[in-house]
Amino acid sequence: MPIDPILDPSSLARELSGRHLINGELVASQSGKNFDVLNPATGKVIGQAADGDVQDVAIAVGVAKKAQKDWAERPARERGKLVAECGRVLMSHTEELGRLIALESGKALRTESRVEASVLADMFVFFGGLASELKGETVPFNPNMMTLTTREPVGVVGAIIPWNVPLLLMAIKVAPALVAGNAVVVKSAEDTPLAALRVCQIMQETLPKGVLNILSGFGPSCGGPLVEHKDVKKVSFTGSVETGRTVYKAAAEKLIPVTLELGGKSPMIVMHDADLDKAIAGAVGGMRFTRQGQSCTASSRILVHEKLHDAFVKKLIDKVNALKMGDPLDEETDIGTIINRKQFDKVRSYIDIGEKEGATKHELSALPTDSALADGTFVRPVIFTNVDPNARVAREEIFGPVACVFKFKTFEEALELANDSDFGLAATVWTTDLKTALTATKRLEAGFVQVNQNLVVQPNLSYGGIKLSGLGKEASLESMLEHFTYKKTIILNME
Ligand code: NAI
Ligand code: MG
Repeated sequence: MPIDPILDPSSLARELSGRHLINGELVASQSGKNFDVLNPATGKVIGQAADGDVQDVAIAVGVAKKAQKDWAERPARERGKLVAECGRVLMSHTEELGRLIALESGKALRTESRVEASVLADMFVFFGGLASELKGETVPFNPNMMTLTTREPVGVVGAIIPWNVPLLLMAIKVAPALVAGNAVVVKSAEDTPLAALRVCQIMQETLPKGVLNILSGFGPSCGGPLVEHKDVKKVSFTGSVETGRTVYKAAAEKLIPVTLELGGKSPMIVMHDADLDKAIAGAVGGMRFTRQGQSCTASSRILVHEKLHDAFVKKLIDKVNALKMGDPLDEETDIGTIINRKQFDKVRSYIDIGEKEGATKHELSALPTDSALADGTFVRPVIFTNVDPNARVAREEIFGPVACVFKFKTFEEALELANDSDFGLAATVWTTDLKTALTATKRLEAGFVQVNQNLVVQPNLSYGGIKLSGLGKEASLESMLEHFTYKKTIILNME
């Protein structure tokens, strides 16, 4: 039965409260326990999430295992059509989902949340169309034998998602996993359980029961058991390096494959011949100031040639100052809040550390004055200049609206500085010289390198990092084939 969009996010949050989605039904936790979901802009409770644990994991994985058999038996294109249809249905819920993400995550509706809701739908449409690409090969092994390969689903996939872009990051796991013939159990992030639950509920209109299930709960008590469950045959995780390691170790015990999309400290090199205005727009967008910098690909290390440095800093300050911080649901708002009090404290402590380390702090924009937002986790964007490249703020992922700007003299120096990082997720270079651009793309150590632009995850562009930024690729055909299927070799001896 079609589900009508509910545009009042507060009533939707209440309606979704205290539920997982298992076997097509909204159900409470076995333990009966819930935890509060807050609006970070006010600090007020907007609803509850079901507190899932090992018992709920066992039920959801059992259901998924059973449903996967029939799902995998369907023609690939039929699965693809259903997943694409989910995308089309989700598109009609864009406004509803945008509002709900804004309410529970504090991301501004106009600049972030509504955008995420629409990209989410597009991801399902894109992956739905790839079903026919689940092809194998024939191998010239022996003239008397027919030798071929097929792509087989792995079975039940566990998808563990974070709170910064909860719907899109869920889509790039769930869509390819389903199209490839797997069933999925998602574990949503503690801070953003409701919008993800709503997406899965809407998808039940279209999907057979049990192929997509979602649990809310905490990392160690719900995510941990999901990774450890014997019938989960693949885990796709996005989040912190520390938790990524824990997930990888647990997966190693079972010898199952994992995809890990972890943190970053992405460099942006602005050469002396760059188009300054484009580079400034790229820095504001790339640093995701409108998302309070809560992005794994945030261009948080901005390296500017000495010739442009001062002009760049001045213009960047003006641009960021012009961004309006406020109620995430207000159309006028550019910047919403940090996700929760813990992250707020972490970001604030990094700002203090940066100052103590001797960097020059430029604290920008202004906190909202509305008294209803007095307890919100708003942080003013900070640009640090005169930063020591070995300072903690220059090396560690802050996951907040804090960018470090460095001055360099030579291209070589810029490349060395850019690559001197534990991370390798993304990098950009800004130049009008073709040779510089090509050299930079070759030498920058990152999974995603762009010249004169700073786009985010796109359908069919393989996305994922090297070094501590993770393992494996997402969002592309390659991600579906390599990470959600295994290759079977078959020989038919006709002698
Ligand atoms: P986290 O990595 O702890 O959480 C991400 C997801 O993993 C959540 O769903 C969480 O419940 C789950 N999880 C936590 N412990 C687990 C365990 N033992 N087993 C299985 N699942 C587990 O990240 P958190 O605490 O929310 O944020 C901390 C930092 O992580 C941020 O400051 C940021 O640096 C980084 N981060 C990076 C993200 C990215 O996009 N790469 C997204 C979110 C956070
Ligand atoms: Mg954590």
